[in-house]
Amino acid sequence: MRLSVVGCGYVGLVTGACLAEAGHEVICTDIDEKRIAELQAGGVPIYEEHLDKILQSARTAGKISYTSDAGEAIRKSDAIFICVGTPPKENGDADLSAIDHVARQIATESRSSKLVIEKSTVPARTGLELRRALTAYSRNSGLTFRVASNPEFLREGTAVSDFFHPDRIVVGVEDESSARDMREIYRPILERSFSCPVHNNGTCPSGSAVDLLITTINSAELIKHASNSFLALKISYANVIADLCEKIGANVEEVTHAMGLDSRIGTPFLRAGLGFGGFCFPKDLQAFIHLAGTVGVDFDILKAAERVNKQRIERFFDKVRNALWVVKGKRVAVLGLAFKANTDDIRFSPALEVVKELLRQGAQVLASDPEAIS
Ligand SMILES: NC(=O)c1ccc[n+]([C@@H]2O[C@H](COP(=O)([O-])OP(=O)(O)OC[C@H]3O[C@@H](n4cnc5c(N)ncnc54)[C@H](O)[C@@H]3O)[C@@H](O)[C@H]2O)c1
Repeated sequence: MRLSVVGCGYVGLVTGACLAEAGHEVICTDIDEKRIAELQAGGVPIYEEHLDKILQSARTAGKISYTSDAGEAIRKSDAIFICVGTPPKENGDADLSAIDHVARQIATESRSSKLVIEKSTVPARTGLELRRALTAYSRNSGLTFRVASNPEFLREGTAVSDFFHPDRIVVGVEDESSARDMREIYRPILERSFSCPVHNNGTCPSGSAVDLLITTINSAELIKHASNSFLALKISYANVIADLCEKIGANVEEVTHAMGLDSRIGTPFLRAGLGFGGFCFPKDLQAFIHLAGTVGVDFDILKAAERVNKQRIERFFDKVRNALWVVKGKRVAVLGLAFKANTDDIRFSPALEVVKELLRQGAQVLASDPEAIS
């Protein structure tokens, strides 16, 4: 299929590259002209393992191209993935202005009917608003715009591998033909008929088949927020257990490891530390709490997870003060600046909060990170 991707960030570029590697024709566009120029010149603006390799091979095969002209990308494709940012507003709600901007472009630049796929993380009911906006902005052009929600579950650091080996693919649709098109887009992944850039010889070890779950648009949107919020909750839970272990005299790693071996619990995301950061968990948690509030559902359990997370830096500084006595004038090394390992993404990184506090208290900071230095 001829696909376009609007927004070439961590999600958009990985999505575009992987779909091109899987055999589709992909045209990528971004409002950031410098980013497009860098991609056109063969550069890779973000660090993600394997991404350089697949961008190069898709480019050599003529499967991927880039344009800063959104209209061109829209007109040349049958289906459009919206992968723009949805940052938090001050009240915790998601800022959907970039999605609205893209909706207007799609409605006015299209010359034929399109499938518009919402991949950005958005609050439930956004897809329905998106369809309404597309119809309103296209001003009786006679074109039809079908909308699908296809939330992304990839993790920065293992994004390419996650795209090719997802736990599940969730697709929210309103009609049969959109479900058919989405299945066609993901057919190479579902049938494992791609040459795997992650595994040796391009062949993935045999494993269970990937589920493509067809749901309503509202459910698909809710699945994403509910999943991320649950993982954030798990991290905060581990952090409270850590506080308790310190007071009682137990080893949190022993405790969480043993807990995680229970198949009903699982070890991932049960690690105590500085708390969660990045461009997803903090904002998705806020947006989910906000959404629940607008419909009169009090999500106290998530508010507690957020509160615990906000206290992590302060608690960490209690340890720093205990160790250093006076922080002012001390030289402190900070190992790791990105919000987690194997990425260059520093957005909402707890490490930066640590650095800021160290500087505020008069320490001299020497920081290092394998990917996030620039
Ligand atoms: N980063 C992740 O791990 C991850 C995982 C799953 C879902 N998501 C969601 O995916 C979305 C994108 O996240 P990201 O991390 O890729 O963000 P990002 O900031 O890395 O990328 C967004 C890109 O969109 C571009 N953009 C913004 N407005 C635009 C417009 N009007 N037209 C064209 N391009 C525009 C920006 O220039 C940027 O390159 C967010 O909703 C996020 O919550 C992110």
